[in-house]
Amino acid sequence: MRELERKPSSDTHVRTLRTVAELRAALAGPRRAGRTIGLVPTMGAFHEGHLSLMRHARADCDETVVSLFVNPTQFDQEADLGAYPRDEARDAALAAQAGVDLLFAPPLAEVYPPGFATTVSVAGLTETLEGSHRGHAHFDGVATVVTKLLNMVMPDVAYFGHKDAQQALVIERLVRDLDLPVRIEVCPTVREPDGLAMSSRNARLSASERGRATALARALRAAQEAVAAGARDPALARAAALAELRCAQIEPEYLAFVSPDTLTPVRALDGDVLAVVAARVGDTRLIDNHLLKDGSA
Ligand code: PAF
Repeated sequence: MRELERKPSSDTHVRTLRTVAELRAALAGPRRAGRTIGLVPTMGAFHEGHLSLMRHARADCDETVVSLFVNPTQFDQEADLGAYPRDEARDAALAAQAGVDLLFAPPLAEVYPPGFATTVSVAGLTETLEGSHRGHAHFDGVATVVTKLLNMVMPDVAYFGHKDAQQALVIERLVRDLDLPVRIEVCPTVREPDGLAMSSRNARLSASERGRATALARALRAAQEAVAAGARDPALARAAALAELRCAQIEPEYLAFVSPDTLTPVRALDGDVLAVVAARVGDTRLIDNHLLKDGSA
């Protein structure tokens, strides 16, 4: 692993590019020289989850590119887009410290020029969970922008977090279906010490909401404990998880036990099962998931 050879950078500056032409010019030399390129697509507001993706990219690849683009087409609510935290200077400094080589932060018109008329839409996987709660446009927006970013950067490997497990599956499917020449790496969810999954949205929680939000991780742990204690009926694990959420006055948008490959609900908690939850804590919508182990492995 190259990470062992490369110490974290003390730089506070990362080269920032705004256009696809600049990006391609910057990557032409390394590509010709046979250097591998890793891409971490982001919407900014970096936290330890993003930094861990950057470290994975840096460890695996010769050049690390981070894209920073708050993609309007994947937001189902105008207010959510407006409230999305933006601080490019802070993000650039963190990317520099993480040893990122290039930050690609295009303006809106570079990604969606006037007359833009194409949508990438993945059927099936997008119709449940996040898709059914946020509407079809959400994953169409994600699939379209990720396809564009992959075409712009042409990385060897692109890195995504497992917290957005459904998003990762959708991206794996579009890469396979469209024969895109890239490997998708899905990296583990990074958590706060109290279990809360890291998310740019956590910054919007008030102090009391921040305390209540830990119930999502506790709910998933309660489901895991029910399975470890022998529960095989999803209703039993659901009841244990729901009790944790309700203790924190949280009513989930969904709390489900699904196949990690197809996202269809499972009938029994044996083999691989993904527990998924989405809930609003105050005005902030949070999601989390956990791959349940039934002890048979
Ligand atoms: O996970 C995200 O931050 C976004 O959905 C992504 C993949 C950068 C696309 O805008």
